[in-house]
Amino acid sequence: MEGTALSGKSGCGECCAVRSGVFENKFYDPTAYRLGTYAFSPGAGQGLGTRRPMTRSEEQWRKALRVIPAGTQTLSKGPGCFVDGVSPKYLARGKGSHVWDVDGNEYIDYCLACFPLTLGYSVPAVDEAIKAQLSDGITFSMMHPLEVKVADMLTERIPCAEMARFGKNGSDVTAMAVRLARHITGRDKVACLGYHGMQDWFIGTTDRSWGIPEAVRKMTIPFRYNDPASLEDIFSKHKGEVACVIMEPAMYEFPVGGFLDAVREMTAEEGALLIFDEMLTGFRFAEGGAQELFGVTPDLATFGKGIANGMPIGVLVGREQYMRHFEKVFFSSTYGGEVLTLAAAAAALNFYREHRVIRQLWKAGKIIFDNFNRLVRDRGLSDHVQTVGFPVRQQMIFRDRTGEISYILPALFQQEMLKRGILCYAGLGFSYSHSDEDLMVTVRAFQETLDVLEKAIESGQPERFMEGVPSQPVFRNLRAQKQTAN
Ligand SMILES: Cc1ncc(COP(=O)(O)O)c(C=O)c1O
Repeated sequence: MEGTALSGKSGCGECCAVRSGVFENKFYDPTAYRLGTYAFSPGAGQGLGTRRPMTRSEEQWRKALRVIPAGTQTLSKGPGCFVDGVSPKYLARGKGSHVWDVDGNEYIDYCLACFPLTLGYSVPAVDEAIKAQLSDGITFSMMHPLEVKVADMLTERIPCAEMARFGKNGSDVTAMAVRLARHITGRDKVACLGYHGMQDWFIGTTDRSWGIPEAVRKMTIPFRYNDPASLEDIFSKHKGEVACVIMEPAMYEFPVGGFLDAVREMTAEEGALLIFDEMLTGFRFAEGGAQELFGVTPDLATFGKGIANGMPIGVLVGREQYMRHFEKVFFSSTYGGEVLTLAAAAAALNFYREHRVIRQLWKAGKIIFDNFNRLVRDRGLSDHVQTVGFPVRQQMIFRDRTGEISYILPALFQQEMLKRGILCYAGLGFSYSHSDEDLMVTVRAFQETLDVLEKAIESGQPERFMEGVPSQPVFRNLRAQKQTAN
């Protein structure tokens, strides 16, 4: 990998070279994207932020708590993940990279609905495809040709994909991948790395495992990124019992020392299947995901976010020799071939090619990555704040005065960014719709936010700078594993 300019079907190789975790972006001049040199249009960023009181948001929330347990359908979108009392709770509308809350405040959105909106909100090419299909029908009593078309488009783009099946979300397809591996190998145990959705075999490994039988919890064993010995250990303790290794091929660390190749080899030697969960790397790292970027091909892979620009889809792809077993293994649901989503997927997949979306995502990520780290360095805050990961999947890590990972500082970061009109976690996601100006408005907000953080760190009491209830990670144990806020 070292020194290799990337090449790939998606065109990612056009924009970025990756050298052992160092990124070179040949498509922009970093000096053109510095606050001192960037030419803002008049009024850029004005009107953004928490200006109007969150009256309607709070009213909705009070009602929600009466009729919806935990108040939300998606924990990462709920108030626990945003600074309560400062942040809005309900959004009403989005256009491009901007959203408006129910009280009329406007923000640049880097959360992107938990990241499926790789093109942005209300993108005409996708919306028109949905509307055109709507006039013919949403879902049918028999199959629809779009099932074949989208499967074909995916097998063209994803290295391990010889066949494809559709579900409605990521959890559907990670569940089916594991079921398939269990059937093929005749084994029960699963080695996992990362987040894989809400099904029992995975949630049993987390600190939210209520309701999951002990017998199921024992079946899944997590291992660590860039630590092949941790996987070796699972294989030796559970000799001949592991059906599959399911993993996110890249989170916030560059794979070092041939880690992915080692996993590939070990899995094959042990007779287990290798499944890459590319929900967050697919159609971001490259169209064909991290497997395309790093040149390591799994047996099966799961995709979803990024395929249909927000319409509900999960996709399981893989080698024909394995996928053919679905002729027997049960995988069937009412909405698997729902057609509005497939129309959106076909339009989005075409859009990727026509508009070189991957190149734009890397460029946007690199502008943010470079500028944030430069501002941190300029302030001498590198011991406390750091961006890790990839331009297209990045995470900010905050440490307190003692060097411990801080839970308050990311919340303070989120609060201050939000006040300045930037909706984000401690780690930003990018869409094709984020304009250069959006990015520079964001860098300006970083500058002011880091001024506040600097004071908060110096004070030794950052909690005193909080104006609301700090956000919390959904899983504490996963955060430690992934170094993530979510
Ligand atoms: C890597 C990964 N796998 C699986 C899932 C589960 O997807 P869903 O929430 O659509 O069920 C997610 C969701 O965030 C994910 O990030």
